[in-house]
Amino acid sequence: TAEKAPPLKGDVLVHADPAKYGQPIKPSELTELAIVAYPMGKAKDGTPVIRSAEPNNQIGVYKFDPAQLKAPTKIEDTDNGIVAYSNTCTHAGCFPKSVQGSAIVNCPCHSGQYEPKEGCRVLGGPPNKPMPQLGVKAQGDQLVLTSSFLTSPYGYKSDEEWEAYLK
Ligand code: FES
Repeated sequence: TAEKAPPLKGDVLVHADPAKYGQPIKPSELTELAIVAYPMGKAKDGTPVIRSAEPNNQIGVYKFDPAQLKAPTKIEDTDNGIVAYSNTCTHAGCFPKSVQGSAIVNCPCHSGQYEPKEGCRVLGGPPNKPMPQLGVKAQGDQLVLTSSFLTSPYGYKSDEEWEAYLK
C-alpha cells in the first residue's frame, strides 16, 4: 500500500513528531539537530498519504553550513546544506536522536554513533554501515525528496538487494 511504500522521489517531508504530525517541514525550521520526518506521497487516487505504516521510513533532516558537508556525503543530493538520511539505526532498527550541543547522532539502544556531516558514517558502536542518505531539495516552503534511500537501509543486506526491492 502507499502507506507502506518506501520514501520515493517527489515525496514531501512532514513532521513525525506527534505534536506537529503531518505538517510539512519548512526549510526555515531546520538546524544541525535532526527533525524527524515521514515521507508524504500520493495514493493512486491522488489523495495525500503519509508513509508511516513502515516504521523504517523515518527520515532525519538537517541543515549544516554547506562547507561542513564532507565525503562520503553525496553533495549533489543535498541543497545548500540541507541533507536527509534514514533515521533507523542500521544495527538493530532503533531510532537514533540528535543530542543538544552535539551534531553527532546517537542511537539509544547500543550507543551507535553517526556523523551526519560525513554521509552518516559510523563513528562508534556496533552499526556496520551508515544510515543511508536520500536526495532532498527545498521547493518553496517545503522539502521534497529527489530520491529514495541512495544505499541500503536497515533490513537489507546489500545495496543490490535494496535496489532490487525498489524496482
Ligand atoms: Fe542502534 Fe544497536 S540499534 S546501536
